[in-house]
Amino acid sequence: MSTGVLCAVRGAAEATAVQLLGESSRLEVTRRCADLAELLASAAAGAGAVAVVTAGVPGLDREAVHHLHGSGVWVVLLVDGVAPWEALPAELGADAVLDVRHVDELPAVVTALLDEAGRTGARPGSPTRPATAVDPAARLEGPAPDAAPGGGRRPAEGTLVAVWGPTGAPGRTTLAVNLAAELAATSAEPAGGSALLVDADTYGGTVAPVLGLLDEAPGLAAAARAAASGRLDVAVLATLSPVLDGGLRVLSGISRADRWPEVAPASLDVLWSVARELVRWTVVDCGFCLEEDELLAYDTRAPRRNGATLSAVEAADVLVVVGAGDPIGMQRLVRGLGELRDRLPAVEPVVVVNRVRASASGPQPGDAIRDALHRYAGVADVRLVPDDGPACDAALLAGRTLVEHVPTSPARRAVSRLAEEVVARRALVTAH
Ligand SMILES: Nc1ncnc2c1ncn2[C@@H]1O[C@H](COP(=O)(O)OP(=O)(O)OP(=O)(O)O)[C@@H](O)[C@H]1O
Ligand SMILES: [Mg+2]
Repeated sequence: MSTGVLCAVRGAAEATAVQLLGESSRLEVTRRCADLAELLASAAAGAGAVAVVTAGVPGLDREAVHHLHGSGVWVVLLVDGVAPWEALPAELGADAVLDVRHVDELPAVVTALLDEAGRTGARPGSPTRPATAVDPAARLEGPAPDAAPGGGRRPAEGTLVAVWGPTGAPGRTTLAVNLAAELAATSAEPAGGSALLVDADTYGGTVAPVLGLLDEAPGLAAAARAAASGRLDVAVLATLSPVLDGGLRVLSGISRADRWPEVAPASLDVLWSVARELVRWTVVDCGFCLEEDELLAYDTRAPRRNGATLSAVEAADVLVVVGAGDPIGMQRLVRGLGELRDRLPAVEPVVVVNRVRASASGPQPGDAIRDALHRYAGVADVRLVPDDGPACDAALLAGRTLVEHVPTSPARRAVSRLAEEVVARRALVTAH
């Protein structure tokens, strides 16, 4: 049985591509698409298993390639080998890339891709697909320097720490900001900027105001846009993330909650890998919700509000989960840890309980919290951050971090210990 191919090729190569594919006994052109919308609709309708698409088709970005993959369609990108497309194909996440001047090799490229998938069981967009499937760079004028198998980037050294916690303002932002500040201070480099703080809370990001960065342009939206069009690299990310006094880089969040559709998860996946190249530590302040937007799941093009949080939590090397140290906060934390376990069973988070105080948890609050988490969530090891209104309020008022403003405060000391633990956890993960 022949495999259906969807063609969205522009220019003179279209007729040639269709003819050559049609001559192959294993392939059949099932749709000649006029634009990206038709290609995506055809893919979603199951009209083909491979999309051959020109890199210059309007609207083609990483998110579109991601959606084609989501429809189970392999993506073969045709490029003209001339700038500005040189660096783009690998960034877009295509499965194979062919210089349009070698269009006569298109059937061989497509069948090699399918054969490789048959042998390895790889899926479209699979990051584990070996580079031997088709070597896109070999068909390009200039190899894409950062290309890795599967169209991603080469893994870099940096570590991604996601700070997540359930609803009820348990202190995700406070911990993310101050953890990032501690990591920046401990791994300071001469030029500064060894840690990057990313505000990825699509419900109510507050990193910029917490750090006194008023009217800051939303760096995250700009980074997501650059990633979607294949233009996010270390230099661009560095420009979008100013370095503060303490050596901490900040990528501010979306300024208005209704701008969340600008932050597409497929773009954030690129952001995390570029951030790993830029800095040693990336700390992400996540939104509270881990749910898939299930009502929209039938529409694979629909933006997902929780996609940013899910992308960060899934990509994280170290996941910090924070709950509030009061009865309601503990209930939510237990439920949240359950949700997390369902979604990522292999991940062992660093569990933190914040705002710990006797008035909300009894005379021995630490013991009560440890017991409860052990009994109801099977958590053996909990880090406690005391309720420290004076220090947190003072830092907030000054728009500064705890380490800068109240370095000897109990909250700062607890966050500093947490940072040491994150460093140790990372070392442990790397050792395995
Ligand atoms: N250990 C602490 N002691 C005292 N106050 C704290 C502590 N941690 C956080 N706070 C305060 O609690 C409030 C909420 O904290 P934060 O904004 O970090 O929560 P969040 O989980 O990010 O909330 P949101 O859901 O709004 O994103 C802030 O005013 C913060 O200063
Ligand atoms: Mg917050």
